[in-house]
Amino acid sequence: MVQVHRMYFHYSELPLSMRTLFTGALLVLGVGYLFAMIHVYNSHAGRDGQPGLSITDLAIAYSGSKDATKLEAAMLGPMSGMLPNDERGAVVGWVRRGLDEKEYEDSIKPILDRRCQTCHNGSNPHIPNLDGYKEVSEVAQLDTGMNISTLVRVSHIHMFGITFIFFITGMIFSHAYVRPVWFKAAVIIMPFLAVCADVFSWYLTKLHPGFALVVFVAGGVMGMSFAIQWTVSMYQIWFFKYSPETHTREPSGF
Ligand code: HEC
Repeated sequence: MVQVHRMYFHYSELPLSMRTLFTGALLVLGVGYLFAMIHVYNSHAGRDGQPGLSITDLAIAYSGSKDATKLEAAMLGPMSGMLPNDERGAVVGWVRRGLDEKEYEDSIKPILDRRCQTCHNGSNPHIPNLDGYKEVSEVAQLDTGMNISTLVRVSHIHMFGITFIFFITGMIFSHAYVRPVWFKAAVIIMPFLAVCADVFSWYLTKLHPGFALVVFVAGGVMGMSFAIQWTVSMYQIWFFKYSPETHTREPSGF
């Protein structure tokens, strides 16, 4: 006889209603996770000029880049599909030459009007307004990455949101039969430690770009934990045969 904790119940011992609730939550969270990955990729990939998402991309996103302004970084990264290379070259050249106002009126404004104004005309308060010399110059200053107030806003959203997600998945996963038990506990606690490491590293990346590696690893740990909890739970909810008669429930058990 193997000991299990007196409070432990496997999915197969739970009512169908709870198993369907767990399944529904896992399905929607799984799809949500995919969208989150796409969002991370879209907003950070290619900032360093290379395709794909790299540690350098994250370092640039959080700490800025010593050699690219926000405008350039956007045109190389998320906005790269919005204009052809020769026009990008013209805008970059203008930024590097020092944001001359006459050159802006003659050759840069027409490009931005044509390629960017549909979205950046100031009607959306969440994205930079690119309508006018003063507005464009603001995003053409040296890129110092995300500012602290943005980081603070994203930090609290992230910490609350991720806690909700992993509390739900962890609660569901706690009914899975997994041995050794320390491994099960580790899979449950990891994402909480990772989100702290992740969020603190955003700020530390401002001091030293090397912390982008921690952001990267923490993201990987969260993804891994999510994948394990999701597949093991889903599999055991519907396909795994657990035989309670081979277990005794003990207050001191696992
Ligand atoms: C189809 C709509 C659309 C067009 C066209 C567009 N953008 Fe954007 N832009 C966005 C959105 C949405 C964001 C905010 C989300 C993001 O950062 O990906 C954004 C963000 C930005 C940012 C801020 C990036 C940051 O790090 O905060 C800059 C700079 C920018 N765009 C420049 C441009 C330039 C230059 C063009 C034209 C060559 C352009 N955009 C065309 C939608 C657009």
